[in-house]
Amino acid sequence: MNSSPATTATKLTRQLPSACVAAHTEQLPQVELESLNQLGLALDVAVELHDTARRQAVHAALAHFAAHADLGLLLHKPADSTTGRQDSSPAAGYRRHLLLADPGGRYSAVAIVWGKDQYSPVHGHHTWCAYSVLQGALCESCFEWCEAEQAARLNTAGRAIRRLPGEVSYTEAGHCGIHRLGNPHSEPAISVHIYGVPGEHIATAVNDLVAVNA
Ligand SMILES: [Fe+2]
Repeated sequence: MNSSPATTATKLTRQLPSACVAAHTEQLPQVELESLNQLGLALDVAVELHDTARRQAVHAALAHFAAHADLGLLLHKPADSTTGRQDSSPAAGYRRHLLLADPGGRYSAVAIVWGKDQYSPVHGHHTWCAYSVLQGALCESCFEWCEAEQAARLNTAGRAIRRLPGEVSYTEAGHCGIHRLGNPHSEPAISVHIYGVPGEHIATAVNDLVAVNA
């Protein structure tokens, strides 16, 4: 969709909290701001849908963004640009950058920069969410919830799945999508995540950390 620079600036000012604009988008070139604006417009529509329709619409919005955006400059942002950590693993410490926050609190978009051997904890989700790799590659290990044990077990199907740019994953809230993401590679990776929560809640209302049994 076409949008003038003035329109784009207005839209971003409306969509992004002022702190977010200052801390996370001041170094983004105009093309990225336009990509973010288009992502916001698509998500405005998607989040009003339900079930399969929402899944498909979020998938399409994120796939389009991942194919057109280049957030590589986030690799060079200082560590103090982190928006918070939600990890219990000593190996964790990846940086998260809030890119979009719906003023109505219906969704937020976050870029995560993963250094070598940085992993999320094993977690389910308190909200629907989707992610795509923009740069580099991630490994995803999937788990199944065992109600009797009140713990997760590694999916017997086995190995970690290598996630490359161009793929989009979506999961609903609950224990249906328990996983662990991380970067075992020497090259840093960037992923973008869409969460069904307000921007100010991404550190506390997304990941549902679970116990894991061997
Ligand atoms: Fe997750």
